[in-house]
Amino acid sequence: MEMIREYADWFYLIGAVLFILTLRGLSGPKTAIAGNRYGMIAMAIAVVTTFFVAENPVVWMIIGAMVLGAIVGIARARTVPMTQMPETVALMHSLVGLAAVLIAVAAIIHNNKLIELGPDLLAANGVNFHEMSRIHLFELFVGCFVGAITFTASVFAYGKLAAKKWAKTISGVWVKPVQAIIFIAMLGFGVHFFLTGNMTSFWAMTGLALAFGWVWIAPVGGGDMPVVVSLLNSFSGWAAAGIGFTLENNMLIVAGSLVGSSGAILSYIMCKAMNRSIINVLFGGTMGGAAAPTAGAGEQVQRNHRSGSADDAGFLMSNADSVVIVPGYGMAQGRAQNAVKELANLLKEQGVTVRFAIHPVAGRMPGHMNVLLAEADVPYEDILEMDEINSDFPATDVVLVIGANDVVNPAAKDDPTSPIYGMPILEAHKARTIMVIKRSMATGYAGLDNDLFYNDKTMMIFGDAKKVVEDMTKAINGTGH
Ligand code: TAP
Repeated sequence: MEMIREYADWFYLIGAVLFILTLRGLSGPKTAIAGNRYGMIAMAIAVVTTFFVAENPVVWMIIGAMVLGAIVGIARARTVPMTQMPETVALMHSLVGLAAVLIAVAAIIHNNKLIELGPDLLAANGVNFHEMSRIHLFELFVGCFVGAITFTASVFAYGKLAAKKWAKTISGVWVKPVQAIIFIAMLGFGVHFFLTGNMTSFWAMTGLALAFGWVWIAPVGGGDMPVVVSLLNSFSGWAAAGIGFTLENNMLIVAGSLVGSSGAILSYIMCKAMNRSIINVLFGGTMGGAAAPTAGAGEQVQRNHRSGSADDAGFLMSNADSVVIVPGYGMAQGRAQNAVKELANLLKEQGVTVRFAIHPVAGRMPGHMNVLLAEADVPYEDILEMDEINSDFPATDVVLVIGANDVVNPAAKDDPTSPIYGMPILEAHKARTIMVIKRSMATGYAGLDNDLFYNDKTMMIFGDAKKVVEDMTKAINGTGH
């Protein structure tokens, strides 16, 4: 025990290096499992070391909380379906925010109690006490308000993603002024607390920060929630780092900073791939998304498209040299990934080169398509990122678009008036033949019509993704190539 205490910083250093290796590992599908293992070892080192470093720990409370947390965590991890992953992550971030607030509150109450006891009594009992320095108050102020905003904003993001009735999107001219008033008042009380240590200001700041988290995120559209969740992930990291300074815990500072910066980078990548700025997502009001109705086919000008059957498509693909499959939100919605993998295997058996093209924001959460294809055991070497595959489309015989829409919309390249102009896309329109599986001519997340569907080279195959893909497989099997 003494040894752990003495070498605590070394253990923390090992933990920090392992956390960095975790992030490195998680950046690629092949190394992700190793990355997860590094993370588990790092967390175990961090928790055990902290346990021994803490002064007079209330052992039963800590172990009780850990057991309770582990039971809830394991139960949730075992049962959560992949589709509910974003809201689960949001809920977990809310706990990080809440923990930051509670730690700040506990640190302040503890400090005030010691002041009440007086220096003489403390000295007589051997308690080493220094009044909180300005810098400590500043850390508490920042850690607490960032934590409080993260808490309520994450709870709202969870409610929105889980389609809870209480998570209502708010809109109106009053929203921005109310946000501004709450924010300024929150900062005002925070600065007062920082300058004077006044507890009323501390409580007022915390309450206003909780309110701000809610009114800040409530106007954001459901479809933008994944970006918000990623940003809140970043916030929860910074809140943890702030509290790490208060607790003088280097591990918490390093781990919090890693979470904070990686979350910020991910938010930036997501915004870039959607051709939006983070300011636009957070303060630009709603844009399409799960909660907003998308324009239906009936509202569009009638244009001609060509449709075909799964049999026709199966025949064409089995006679092709190369097929690129572009999965999108519809593959996730229709749970078609296993059927898609079977189709790909069958085509490969027939000598067709089959590859998958992944757009960074296909689906509704980061890595959505990668996760589904990994779940279906599609080999990693068959999965290519947008930049790797785009130059291959002109030489591709068939592109099979499965429930993707915005990520293959050529308007993003050709139409400067389009809201998604400038967004990088998978250039499926350049292939020799294009096949699109979807249920109707309805728009996708961005609510935009897609010229690809009216292209002379395109064949629409209407139906649910899983059913159509299964029918294609049957058709190819039937042809006996
Ligand atoms: P979308 O543009 O949303 O299009 C999905 C298409 O799938 C729809 O047009 C829909 O047409 C079809 N579909 C739905 N259910 C289906 C089913 N069961 N079977 C067959 N087709 C089905 O999807 P995308 O191309 O993947 O693009 C993603 C969009 O989400 C982008 O605009 C992106 O900016 C946005 N977004 C992504 C993220 C992340 S992190 N991935 C986060 C926020 C927003 P039908 O109704 O006609 O079937």
